[in-house]
Amino acid sequence: MQAEKQKNWQEQSFSWFAENKSLVLLVTNVLYIVLIGISLISTYSIYNDQEIYNFFAINRAWFGRAALSVLLLVLTPGILGRFGIEIRVSRIITLYRRRLGILVFLLAFTHFFLVGLPKLVGIEPITVLLFQIFGFAALTILFFMFSTSNSFSLKRLGKRWKWLHRLIYIALLFILLHIAFQRVSLWSISATIFLVLEITSFGYAYIKGGAFFNKPN
Ligand code: HEM
Repeated sequence: MQAEKQKNWQEQSFSWFAENKSLVLLVTNVLYIVLIGISLISTYSIYNDQEIYNFFAINRAWFGRAALSVLLLVLTPGILGRFGIEIRVSRIITLYRRRLGILVFLLAFTHFFLVGLPKLVGIEPITVLLFQIFGFAALTILFFMFSTSNSFSLKRLGKRWKWLHRLIYIALLFILLHIAFQRVSLWSISATIFLVLEITSFGYAYIKGGAFFNKPN
């Protein structure tokens, strides 16, 4: 009875998200525009309104944290699938995986932009630290994934698209190094747990002869 009830709410949530695609697309598009707007507003306000600029500058790490959180969410269905665990509601994430991937890049880019802007205008000194190099490497991979997260690239690149998008596991490693080289935190521990789960789930699927990847949608 309990299991049946649980299945129902999960099915209902999935159906809602599947039937309301245009609403989800609208909401994600608004989020993308807001994030692009933050880079533009902070560039304007660094010269004209210190208070607005400070608000974004103080919160710049949160954009990185949000990018990491959405990325871990996107990776969850793959891990569950390889372990043979079926949580129906996680299919919602699979359904909007590409949209969420774009969100990961735009959040990470906003984070990078807010960190780089004061250096660019000469308020902060330019530094090249190891943890920043790892962040840059991760962002570069995310950029290639972002720029090919469309149906045209999926068709055009064929098998190469899948390989390109599997670089996400390397990006996760770089992100982990980026945050672990700063401090031990909830974020570095979460990234470590997910990287370990990724590796063990691949091992598990290999031993069990299960599928390694979900189909791209
Ligand atoms: C060139 C690219 C990047 C640079 C230069 C950069 C720089 C930084 C800096 C300077 C901080 C310290 C926070 C602060 O000073 O306010 C930070 C924190 C953080 N970054 Fe990045 N970052 C980059 C890319 C990324 C990417 C791609 C991600 C994840 C998708 C990410 C996730 C994080 C997280 C989660 C923190 C917070 C760590 C903590 O709270 O301990 N960063 N980053």
